[in-house]
Amino acid sequence: MNETIAVIQNRRSVRAFQDKSIDRDIVDLIVNSAMRAPTAGNMMLYSIIEVDDQAMKEQLVQSCDNQPFIAKAPLVLLFLADYQRWFDFFIASDVKSYCEAEGKELRFPGEGDLLLACCDALIAAQTAVIAAESLGIGSCYIGDIMENYEQHKELFDLPQHVFPITLLCFGYPKPAAAARELTPRFPQEYIHFKNTYRRFDKAALDKMFESRQRQHYPGNATNLGQAYYARKFSADFTIEMTRSVKAAIQAWIAHK
Ligand SMILES: Cc1cc2nc3c(=O)[nH]c(=O)nc-3n(C[C@H](O)[C@H](O)[C@H](O)COP(=O)(O)O)c2cc1C
Repeated sequence: MNETIAVIQNRRSVRAFQDKSIDRDIVDLIVNSAMRAPTAGNMMLYSIIEVDDQAMKEQLVQSCDNQPFIAKAPLVLLFLADYQRWFDFFIASDVKSYCEAEGKELRFPGEGDLLLACCDALIAAQTAVIAAESLGIGSCYIGDIMENYEQHKELFDLPQHVFPITLLCFGYPKPAAAARELTPRFPQEYIHFKNTYRRFDKAALDKMFESRQRQHYPGNATNLGQAYYARKFSADFTIEMTRSVKAAIQAWIAHK
């Protein structure tokens, strides 16, 4: 065990923050560390918006499935998958003439470019999480930022080739949040395969979920799978996320 491994192994999501701001040089250190993350072709296909406007934070509480702790986080960073900067550079560099000279059609950002930009943004985000953690600053992802695409596009003035892939809340943890038990993970054999994918039968799946079984489940659910299906997979927020992401992808590829 070294210090880096200890930081990674002891991290937990923090949703209760002390009423204490994060110094500017520490914010810059976190963002600069994120910017050292690997990035596809060193293109840095992401942007980071620091949201320090309280009214905007309140709006995010609503648009991200009513999560009040967003408004109480001293530091909120929005990670954007961003091909706009590069595509603007291509257009400013008159790639149209280049394409004509080459006899090729001008290409616009497509689905692959979107996923690659999401990779860059998420890798930078997780690097920020670990950097913050090493400085005693807790964090929590807000996946619900992928919902309500149209609202977020307007709120942050996002152009066509920019997609808000994740939001991170940071702050010094309240003592109880820092001491909270680590959340369990599935056993490694279910996650880590050699050479080929391993698919599991019911018996193996039941064993994988063994430690999460309960005596009772809410509503009409009679087992854990039904409970997760109801609470996560078919919940209203998931349906909205799917609608929103579909609209965002359609907008991103609209040139086709
Ligand atoms: C992509 C992603 C989206 C998440 N979205 C939310 C969220 O909207 N709200 C929240 O409270 N936690 C969110 N989380 C935090 C997870 O709930 C948390 O990581 C998970 O329960 C494991 O707990 P741990 O981080 O403490 O180990 C998200 C995490 C990830 C990676």
